[in-house]
Amino acid sequence: MNSYSHRRSNIDDCRIIDLKTVYHDNGRLSVMENLATAPFGIKRVYYLYDLPAGAERGGHSHIDTLELVIPLAGSFDVVVDDGHSVRRVSLNNPSKGLLLPAGIWRTLDNFSSGSICLVLASAKYDEADYIRDYHEFKKLTAEKE
Ligand code: TYD
Repeated sequence: MNSYSHRRSNIDDCRIIDLKTVYHDNGRLSVMENLATAPFGIKRVYYLYDLPAGAERGGHSHIDTLELVIPLAGSFDVVVDDGHSVRRVSLNNPSKGLLLPAGIWRTLDNFSSGSICLVLASAKYDEADYIRDYHEFKKLTAEKE
């Protein structure tokens, strides 16, 4: 891992993005469009589902990858940590996503039964882009000071 390329982000950069949503008597339709919805080109889409009660996901940061997290069904929380400040964001509206810049440690928990977490990512899966050791993350973010 190249620590010099680790992005330095602030939890204030973790913002809610409103998806373009079409309201109809027969239901809602929300759209995610490349470069228009999220401020990055979408290279990968994955989703978490069948989450058992008490599940905790995430527990890592990315060196370069940006992600947009959308509660497709149900609700859950995303705890964002920039190495200095921590904030818990509750998601329960499928027309709103949470933008996670690179360099943010994220943990997902408090999943409601039947919830589905959709993630749009700016890069293909690459384990080398992960920081999974919190002490390593703290060391990298300490370089901010
Ligand atoms: P991980 O990123 O740890 O999941 P989460 O952050 O949701 O808890 O990934 C879990 C496993 O799935 C790990 O072995 C890597 C694999 N994986 C892929 O193969 N491709 C992917 O796009 C993702 C996100 C994970």
